[in-house]
Amino acid sequence: MSHEVKRRRTFAIISHPDAGKSTMTEALALHARMISEAGAIHGKAGRKSTVSDWMEMEKARGISVSSTALQFNYASEHSTDDVPNVINLVDTPGHADFSEDTYRVLTAVDAAVMLIDAAKGLEPQTLKLFQVCRHRGIPVITVINKWDRPGQTPLELIDEITERIGLIPTPLYFPVGIAGDFRGLLDRRSGEYIRFTRTAGGAKVAPEEILDGDAAAAREGDEWTAALEESELLGEMGQDHDQEMFLAGQTSPMIFASAMLNFGVRQLLETLVELAPPPAGRADIDGSVRSVTDPFSAVVFKVQAGMDTSHRDRLAYMRIVSGEFERGMVVTHAQTGKPFATKYAQAVFGRDRSTVDRAYPGDVVGLVNAMALAPGDTLYIDSKVQYPPIPSFAPEHFSAIRVNTADKYKQFRKAMEQMDSEGVVQVLRNELRGDASPVLAAVGPMQFEVVTARMKSEFNVDTTIEPLGYSLARRTDADSAADLGRQRGVEVFTRTDGALLALFSDKWRLQFIQKEHPDLMLEPLVAAAD
Ligand code: G4P
Repeated sequence: MSHEVKRRRTFAIISHPDAGKSTMTEALALHARMISEAGAIHGKAGRKSTVSDWMEMEKARGISVSSTALQFNYASEHSTDDVPNVINLVDTPGHADFSEDTYRVLTAVDAAVMLIDAAKGLEPQTLKLFQVCRHRGIPVITVINKWDRPGQTPLELIDEITERIGLIPTPLYFPVGIAGDFRGLLDRRSGEYIRFTRTAGGAKVAPEEILDGDAAAAREGDEWTAALEESELLGEMGQDHDQEMFLAGQTSPMIFASAMLNFGVRQLLETLVELAPPPAGRADIDGSVRSVTDPFSAVVFKVQAGMDTSHRDRLAYMRIVSGEFERGMVVTHAQTGKPFATKYAQAVFGRDRSTVDRAYPGDVVGLVNAMALAPGDTLYIDSKVQYPPIPSFAPEHFSAIRVNTADKYKQFRKAMEQMDSEGVVQVLRNELRGDASPVLAAVGPMQFEVVTARMKSEFNVDTTIEPLGYSLARRTDADSAADLGRQRGVEVFTRTDGALLALFSDKWRLQFIQKEHPDLMLEPLVAAAD
């Protein structure tokens, strides 16, 4: 058991859209020999099999809404015995409107790889995702991607990360050749030079040649000297890898790479195996820790329906925290105390599904027909455990939704209930608007599009969304609710979990009301980047 845990690494790639996440995922699969060629040479056509594309909307917009997990074996040179490592790569949605989903996914990983475009440097979504990692205490490995194209200098990029996110990069592999002239990597710890050879279209693993310092100097001349000098400069500034500081989230091991040419990809895998932490135990709501070798327990971090339009199912993804999972075992759902049969356990990546018979801490398993499970729920066997819930984000967009034809009302209600429990949006109701016109609350407006698109495709219900003029929500109580209901520009709702939420048009309105009525209970909700 502890052996299975030790060889596992579970991580996610976080990046701004277009930094190369899909290309890197494909390159990792190539290095792990899951695929023999990078599909259609990283073209859109080839990518379809690796990225999730369950919804038309995703395809049309080129975004990935849903989260999936890819598991592969990797024979690492850092493996302590001859058994390959097991790598779990959990996919995160890239778009800012789905940052709440990303947050949920990041509760399921032990490390993150922050992918940065060498030419663009830090982009808004990279920053936001990084803050989420910091909040969750997830160690981050930084990859500067697209080094085969002109971009900034290594030191500029390092400065930018240090200054803007307060994370100190400690490059492990420093580029030889400027951005756009990528020759190879200086392994800063061994002093060796890893020289890459391009393959046609980057379809294959790039052959590597390992040279010592003298041979590298003879081969690359000034380019080698420049890399060495800059690396020494970093050493003088103390920017060398330190495992404790990395795990504490103060420093980030850095690798320069080209996902398209497959340069630096093996180095990323080796870094994950060598430095990223293996799965660890987790504290429950009472603060006592369930260790990885204790009986089975898992946390649901994502619930998703409609992936397969031919059989309308609902899939709950769980991350195993402790113990061994065997398909068919009956586990207990901590929130309801009810038993849950795990006959249909699957590994899901994109459209590919395969049955999972056995799994260990760090692994992600999809449970089919998991109608009762919601994000944040705990499953366990033997002694009871319940992990802390995943906080929901403070919504900033609010829209009323209505069904267009009255005869579809029943389906509408059912669909609403389902998407609410999946956590697609929050659903708010009050007496004035009635059950026929609930209000949807979201972090980003694209979440509303997901609701209407799914209403149509899965439930055959046409709906109309009407944006409301609110931008802020506060939690209140029954006493304050009555007073708030009499104020202009405020509306009070009950959320499905029973919480009372007061919506305000803007912060000025809120401040005005707080000043006039200081006794009212108005508590902030968890903000996106808290
Ligand atoms: P994403 O999932 O993070 O959104 O990024 P994706 O992998 O789709 O990559 C975005 C674009 O960047 C793609 O180009 C891809 O080929 C390119 N790319 C990714 N990694 C590298 C790299 O290391 N070097 C270079 N030069 N390009 C890279 P595209 O024009 O959108 O698509 P396509 O024309 O390649 O199909």
